[in-house]
Amino acid sequence: MSEFKGLLFDLDGVIVDTAKYHFLAWKQLAEELGINFTEKDNERLKGVSRMRSFEIILEIGNREMSEEDKEMYCTKKNAVYLEYIKKLREDEILPGVKDFLVHAREKGYKLALGSASKNAPLILNQLKISDLFDEIIDGTKVSKAKPDPEVFCKGAEALGVPYEQCIVFEDALAGVEAAHNGGMKAVGIGLPENLPGAEMHIPGLYAATIEEIVAKLG
Ligand code: BG6
Ligand code: MG
Repeated sequence: MSEFKGLLFDLDGVIVDTAKYHFLAWKQLAEELGINFTEKDNERLKGVSRMRSFEIILEIGNREMSEEDKEMYCTKKNAVYLEYIKKLREDEILPGVKDFLVHAREKGYKLALGSASKNAPLILNQLKISDLFDEIIDGTKVSKAKPDPEVFCKGAEALGVPYEQCIVFEDALAGVEAAHNGGMKAVGIGLPENLPGAEMHIPGLYAATIEEIVAKLG
């Protein structure tokens, strides 16, 4: 085995494409509030917490709201989002993800999820892959959002692996920065121009094995 011992995975955009469901739920709320919210705007919400996402939507609509009302609308959005998540099927897992996780475990790596989503455990359950992770750090366990490294540091600590022996898999720039802020290497899932700074880039977990990644990072 390599000098790397822990693998930390973002959820949305790495394991499963939930961005489309977040969009549908936010869009419904934005319409109710008379705010024009587009798919392009939705890009800004990737990797961002639920409350911060809503604040961005309010900024787009040039609106202000009390903290109490913001909480109320976030709860409402989540109820709509959960309706989609309850219907999430196993085959919506992104290509190659399951094989990658199973193989990495067989090779002795420790695996953790590091996600801003408070719904992460439910999503993993729907996809029937909860058991493939040794530890799950979700949005309920962190107080600081990416690019703060808290979510990945907690993941590494839960795995009992030093930060510098962890590799982070991320599709959002803030997530790549979070990895670096924690002293970890980052594999960018996506195009190099969208994720500058990541030590390597792949289009998805189907595109490389853990051995190939480690060989490149080492
Ligand atoms: C991140 C998504 O993983 O989770 C964001 O990329 C989302 O778009 C955030 O806002 C919080 O998700 P949830 O499920 O707690 O509302
Ligand atoms: Mg993501």
